[in-house]
Amino acid sequence: MQLIAIINNKGGVGKTTSAVNLGAAFAEKGIPTLLVDLDPAASASIHLGLDKKNNEHQTLCDFLLSSDRVLSKFIYPTTFENLWCIPSEPALSEFYEELLQEEDVDFFIGREDFPEEYEIVLVDCPPNMGNLAYNALAISHHVLIPVQTQYLALTGLELTLKTVHKVQRHLNSELNILGYFGTHYDRRTNAAKEVYQLLREKFKEQVFDTVIGVNTKLIEAYQAQKPILSYASSARGAMEYRALAQEILNRLSGK
Ligand SMILES: Nc1ncnc2c1ncn2[C@@H]1O[C@H](COP(=O)(O)OP(=O)(O)OP(=O)(O)O)[C@@H](O)[C@H]1O
Ligand SMILES: [Mg+2]
Repeated sequence: MQLIAIINNKGGVGKTTSAVNLGAAFAEKGIPTLLVDLDPAASASIHLGLDKKNNEHQTLCDFLLSSDRVLSKFIYPTTFENLWCIPSEPALSEFYEELLQEEDVDFFIGREDFPEEYEIVLVDCPPNMGNLAYNALAISHHVLIPVQTQYLALTGLELTLKTVHKVQRHLNSELNILGYFGTHYDRRTNAAKEVYQLLREKFKEQVFDTVIGVNTKLIEAYQAQKPILSYASSARGAMEYRALAQEILNRLSGK
């Protein structure tokens, strides 16, 4: 099992879109994949049709409140074969902070809580470096960092990297930066090209070759509550997430 946190403290860079569509791309290759929605905004849950408003399902909140804390009880299948999800809901942050105060523990979800049958576990993190993100980093093997290809995107990365380094020093020395990838890439603008170039100069081969372009089908897929791989299987966005997933798998297997 490989636990991968998708992080960037900047909002709207494409963490959730990437978590859902990379998850689907791994699943499409026959890899049992679990997406953990650690963001109280619950965007990944909604994207996968697990919107708390319309469903009776339980969420990570119920896991935190349960007496036995068996994580497998909160795993739901999605409409996409081989892709499962542990949904979130807005009350998560409040409950999490309360529990951290009440109980003398640092984290609530451990690596050992995940059933072994999932080969890849993707964690969609909130856009801040609070306690939920710390929990994700403390238990993950790898982090993936989506970077919006717009000016100032690199400056915004400092806090994310500072947090990763802090976690590596104090909590999880195994934590590996698997790589950075560009998102919202607008091929018509120089800004996108320049920012991608800067990313390459700074992080060298850690930057994936695949770049996720601006594609409105990704927004439509979110609205349709499906991964783009099933909503518009041959759309550019779907092809790019498949290519990125393959690059990630190559890196995971040391190719
Ligand atoms: N490549 C893309 N092309 C067009 N729209 C995109 C693309 N990637 C993401 N979006 C849209 O941009 C918005 C932000 O994306 P997303 O929710 O994935 O970012 P996020 O980093 O998870 O945001 P937050 O920090 O709020 O959790 C969403 O409306 C999403 O549909
Ligand atoms: Mg998100």
